[in-house]
Order: sequence, then C-alpha cells, then structure tokens
Amino acid sequence: MSSSERPTEQVKRSEMDNSANQDATSHWFKNPNAGQFAVFEKSSLKDPARTRSLPLYQSRDTFLKTHHTADSILLLCKVFNMSPSALGAKTYSIAAIPADGIGPEVIDAGITALNALTDTLKTFKLEFKNYDWSSETYKKTGKYIPDGGLEELKKHDAIFFGAVGAPDVPDHISLWGLRLAICQPFQQYANVRPTRVFRGTESPLRNCNTGDLDWVIIRENSEGEYAGQGGRSHTGKPWEVATEVSIFSRHGVERTIRFAFETAQKRPRKLLTVVTKSNAQRNGMVLWDEVAKEVAADFPDVTVDKMLVDAMTTRMVLNPKSLDTIVATNLHADILSDLAAALAGSIGIAPTSNLDPTREYPSMFEPIHGSAFDITGKGISNPVATFWTAAEMLAWLGEEEASKQLLNCVENVCEKGVLTRDLGGSANTKEVTDAVVEEIKKLGSK
Ligand SMILES: NC(=O)c1ccc[n+]([C@@H]2O[C@H](COP(=O)([O-])OP(=O)(O)OC[C@H]3O[C@@H](n4cnc5c(N)ncnc54)[C@H](O)[C@@H]3O)[C@@H](O)[C@H]2O)c1
Repeated sequence: MSSSERPTEQVKRSEMDNSANQDATSHWFKNPNAGQFAVFEKSSLKDPARTRSLPLYQSRDTFLKTHHTADSILLLCKVFNMSPSALGAKTYSIAAIPADGIGPEVIDAGITALNALTDTLKTFKLEFKNYDWSSETYKKTGKYIPDGGLEELKKHDAIFFGAVGAPDVPDHISLWGLRLAICQPFQQYANVRPTRVFRGTESPLRNCNTGDLDWVIIRENSEGEYAGQGGRSHTGKPWEVATEVSIFSRHGVERTIRFAFETAQKRPRKLLTVVTKSNAQRNGMVLWDEVAKEVAADFPDVTVDKMLVDAMTTRMVLNPKSLDTIVATNLHADILSDLAAALAGSIGIAPTSNLDPTREYPSMFEPIHGSAFDITGKGISNPVATFWTAAEMLAWLGEEEASKQLLNCVENVCEKGVLTRDLGGSANTKEVTDAVVEEIKKLGSK
C-alpha cells in the first residue's frame, strides 16, 4: 500500500457519534465531502481509546485491500448503497460433473447449498455449467469425455465432481475414462483430504471426541502406483503376466512433499507425518524419505516424523490425537484416507480436492466416496461430504470467509441431530440439505 493510500487520519469521536449509520453489528462514519469513511464495531463506541485510533479510508479500494472479507464487502455495500456486483464481487464459473450413482444426488444438494450461500451473502456469485459426462454417456458414445471436452473444462475456475463408476462398466475403465482423465492432464498433483469429527457426530473409536481427530492427508495424485505404467502378456493363458509399475520422480515427489509442508505450516500444530514403506520398497520409498529430509530443511518451524504405512494404520486407530498433517503416496494415502473418513464417523462426510497448486489448470473438488451402487436412487446418501467439498472449493477460489461459514452451518445441522443413516440418524438427503439451507439463510440476519 502506498503512503497516500495508507489510512492515517483519525475519526473524532464527536463526529462519529453524530454521523454514524448503524446496523446490527457494525457502524461506519462517512464524510461525504471528503469521501472518507471509517468502519468500526458497535462495541467500540463504549471504548473511547479504540474509537480514537480508527483509521479513515480514502476509498473503498483502500479499505478492501486491508479488509477483504465477506463482512467488509457487505458493509461497504451499505455505506455506498451499492450492490456487491457494483463493488466488483466476483463471479466464478464452475463446471459441474455429477456423473454416476449417487453423484447426481449429492452434487444437486451441493449446488442447492452453494446457491443459498451466494444468495444470502451476496458477496460473490457462482455460475454452474453442467456436463453430463458419465458411464451412461460412455455406454452410448464409447467416450466419457467428448472430443474437445478438456478444452471446455479449462475455461472454468473449478470443477465440482460427483463420482464415477457403474456396475456394468469395469472400474478401471470408468476411473481412467473420467476422473483420472481430468486429474492427470490438468496436473492436479496435490490431493487434499481433511478429516475431523464434526460436532454432533461420533467416531467409532472410544474416547475420540470432536477435536481429538483433526487431520489433513496430502496424497500424491499424479504418479506413484497409479501412474498407469505396466501391461499384460499372454492374456487368459495360465502363464499370463501382468505388471503394475510404480513411478516416483524426484520432481513429482518433491512438489507433493513441499505442498504438504506448506499445508502443515499453515495449521496450528505445524506437525507433518511422512508415510512410506521404505523397509520393503527399497527404491521409490527410499527416494520419498530422502526428499522429505531435504525439503524439511526449508521448514524449520514444522515438526516432522516418519511412519511406515502398516504402523500408520495402528497409530491412526490407537492414537489419533498424535497426528495432524500426513503425506503419502497415491495408493497409501488413498487407503489411509478412507480409514480416516471411517474413523471420523463415515465416508459420507469426507471431502477431497484435486489441486493444481500452480493454478495453470482448474482444480477439481469431489466427495471422497464413490458412486455407492447399494444406495443409489434411494435418496438417503449423505450430502455432507459434498457440502464440505463445496467449502473447500470456495476456500481455493479465495472465498475463505464464505467457506468457513458454509462449513459451520453444516456442522450446526449435524449438532442438531439432522443426520443420515451412515451417521446413525434417520434423515434423508433432502432433509439434511433443507436443514443446511435454513442454517445458511440465518447468516443473512446476523
Ligand atoms: N472418485 C470417484 O469417483 C470414486 C471413488 C471411489 C470409488 N469409485 C467407484 O464407485 C463405485 C463403488 O465403489 P465402492 O463401493 O468401493 O465405494 P463407495 O464409496 O461408492 O461405497 C462404499 C460404501 O460407503 C457407502 N457410502 C458411500 N458414500 C456414501 C454417502 N455419501 N452416504 C452414505 N453412504 C455412503 C456406500 O453405500 C457403500 O456401502 C466403483 O465403481 C468405484 O470404482 C469412484
């Protein structure tokens, strides 16, 4: 901020008392001639010392640079009597790919909640474009993604994905045809999987309450065991051979581990556990350990420990409080994160973000679960994983405040006991979604 923009002048308490507009929580002072204004909390009126030191802002841009939060933007709209869009509230373009099984149900619930949030907050907008790429499309056309489809996707700010997989299509065809066909070319190399026990839900572990299990698993998402290298010879013969080759590149390992350190550094405990299997897998996993040690030197404030993946499963179950941020390979973290979700109560609550941290390509956000054939069409799928996914997407887009508010609304609904069957409740998808929308609407009156 240049010195001319810096808020240096102070509001005189007498002026403020006379001129302040009011709303429920905040006040502002506006000097129409000079075009200056100050924003202050109602509670500060009783505290002359705090109000005397209030900065005066010359323009709304200066204010926004200093306090870019949803609340600040709303306040500014009131000061200048403008709509959020006139203040430059952003519109984000979202590609929705509901795909298969319960994917369409949960994505529909997610879009409903997001629309309620944007309608209530009015600080940014979301525009959804639906893509009907699914196993049905594959069965009709032979392709999950039509020609030019990836170019289309690149135009969006983010991708909101349901799940892919159908009983009559082999799983490796569906996964490689749609999900991995997006993750890999878009270099979404960091797969982020947070887990925690929500208020109002229960871990199957004894003595594991809200706050006792609060992890983020970072999964390498572009190579490793899912690199797609290998082949089959003598198919169908008794001497058939198949190879599945894991690829660990220094580049791929380092960027993932660095991302994990950055994630750990932003969390209060600054604790990272690096998971490998470097006793038995003596090449790729030893490279992981070595790279982790090198990268650790750049993060002296992060405490690092190291676990073998088999021992990690027991630590997750027996001592969940001892963990915070976890980094592991594509396969190991895939398995550990399903265990993590179950330990937090259900796979129906866990989100995942497939991030391109360079932001060259749009990142993709999806619930961790699959298409759940056993409950498809029954209207009972848990939409919480998709709500949390939506919150992760908002945070990635830069709408951190809205993200926190959405997640808080979801947790409030869990705390009220509006839970689907997988969490021990009896509510259906629509009832949980309606309850979340009601909770979101309350944000408008705060
Ligand atoms: N990212 C993806 O698209 C993805 C991820 C995992 C599996 N899959 C695919 O999904 C299909 C089914 O796989 P699966 O059975 O191994 O895993 P799954 O996650 O679909 O289901 C496992 C179990 O969890 C339950 N479950 C999952 N999500 C739930 C929710 N939101 N609410 C309540 N219960 C829920 C299911 O009913 C089932 O009993 C397969 O084709 C698989 O390849 C896709």
